[in-house]
Amino acid sequence: MADLSCKIAGIDSLNPFWLASAPPTDKKYNVVRAFQAGWGGVVWKTLGIDPPVVNVSSRYGAHHDQNRRLLGINNIELISDRPLALNLQEIRECRAEWPDHVIIGSMMAPIEERAWKDLAQQIAESGVHGIELNLGCPHGMCERGMGSAIGQVPEMVEQVTRWVKEAVDIPVFTKLTPNITNILWSAEAALKGGADAVSLINTVNSIISVDLDQMVPEPMVDGKGTHGGYCGSAVKPIALNMVAEIARTPETRALEISGIGGITTWKDAAEFMALGANAVQVCTAAMIYGFRVVDDLIDGMSQWMDDQGYSSVDQFTRKAVPQVANWNELNMNFDTKAVIDPDKCIECGRCHIACEDTSHQAIAMNAKPEGGKEFVVIDEECVGCNLCYHICPVPDCITMEPVKTDKPYMTWPQHPLNPMRDAAE
Ligand SMILES: Cc1cc2nc3c(=O)[nH]c(=O)nc-3n(C[C@H](O)[C@H](O)[C@H](O)COP(=O)(O)O)c2cc1C
Ligand code: SF4
Ligand code: SF4
Repeated sequence: MADLSCKIAGIDSLNPFWLASAPPTDKKYNVVRAFQAGWGGVVWKTLGIDPPVVNVSSRYGAHHDQNRRLLGINNIELISDRPLALNLQEIRECRAEWPDHVIIGSMMAPIEERAWKDLAQQIAESGVHGIELNLGCPHGMCERGMGSAIGQVPEMVEQVTRWVKEAVDIPVFTKLTPNITNILWSAEAALKGGADAVSLINTVNSIISVDLDQMVPEPMVDGKGTHGGYCGSAVKPIALNMVAEIARTPETRALEISGIGGITTWKDAAEFMALGANAVQVCTAAMIYGFRVVDDLIDGMSQWMDDQGYSSVDQFTRKAVPQVANWNELNMNFDTKAVIDPDKCIECGRCHIACEDTSHQAIAMNAKPEGGKEFVVIDEECVGCNLCYHICPVPDCITMEPVKTDKPYMTWPQHPLNPMRDAAE
């Protein structure tokens, strides 16, 4: 069986699956059950300076699909609302009772050197393997000058990372906010400040929905709502891109990465690792499915690794990074066409409507002599956009087939129709 153990920022972990800093990791009771379930590590719910924060009720909004499956959660919760001493005592106990499992202490403080250093030292003394700097919460804490208020200013990211690196001698993870124009600015700042790794993403700033009867954004707190942090499977594409950008950019690729954002299945986790993450963190999936979701992560990844012939996670970590290109490096001469398998088609007509109304009118709907309809791709019109392939409700009914061509690899900068081509030559 494949070896799932991994190392990130010099910390050995039984597997790459950690619970992210959030309600699932806010007390010993949860952390013990998470370890029992099989999680390799946890990032404790963010600790701040006493007195503890006070939370509001209610706290979560939700984005459902039509079948009421949760695609994303939006939260307006703050950091740990329990006393610091109680959290640190419970961390000490968990470290003593679960020596092989990783505990990272997450923290945030106002932008003052002493505040960051003192809190970091207290957390380090509790025996954690590393410290994660929460520079991401986009609600509540940022209005007090913390969270994303710091994470959105690269100079502050660098400064805070440096302060904590000076204060403790354990690995420091700088957790980045996605609420920034270019993730590379804050990643570079974390690197300059001496971060051993970056964790990303924290939640995406958002208003998730509006109660149209009361005309109030949700979640509602006594007739008012506010923007909050969005997470869950809906944010995975945003996180994947940011992870890949850091992993493929020469100035930042030395950073180790703890990948976070919408990871729900083993496949999500493997994708993050293939694009640059050395380990991953999960929050929303555990909130929706419980701690046992780790069974799928462990079993699924082991099975896939065995099937692929990978004996350790290092063998596929960052393996997709070289294939991430800029648009103008893509082959303009590559062509692909949709192919419909008539034996699998249930004649729902969705591909025809989608292509007819919003793509290239490349799927003909013909009456069959025996009754019913057949759907046929008109090759000359098909531009290979993939829309029908994604819309078809029947797996493998529509496939996208590459067209054989003798044309050479040609990028847009080399293309004869590029008006800038002459200037480039
Ligand atoms: C209710 C809730 C509370 C959270 N609290 C924290 C926190 O205290 N510190 C932190 O760094 N991130 C916090 N997060 C963000 C998560 O750690 C994680 O970065 C984010 O949810 C994306 O991962 P996911 O899509 O797996 O949920 C919180 C998320 C949720 C949903
Ligand atoms: S791939 Fe795009 S253009 Fe081709 S048939 Fe499907 S929807 Fe139409
Ligand atoms: S969407 Fe799929 S099943 Fe429906 S008509 Fe098109 S090919 Fe057939």
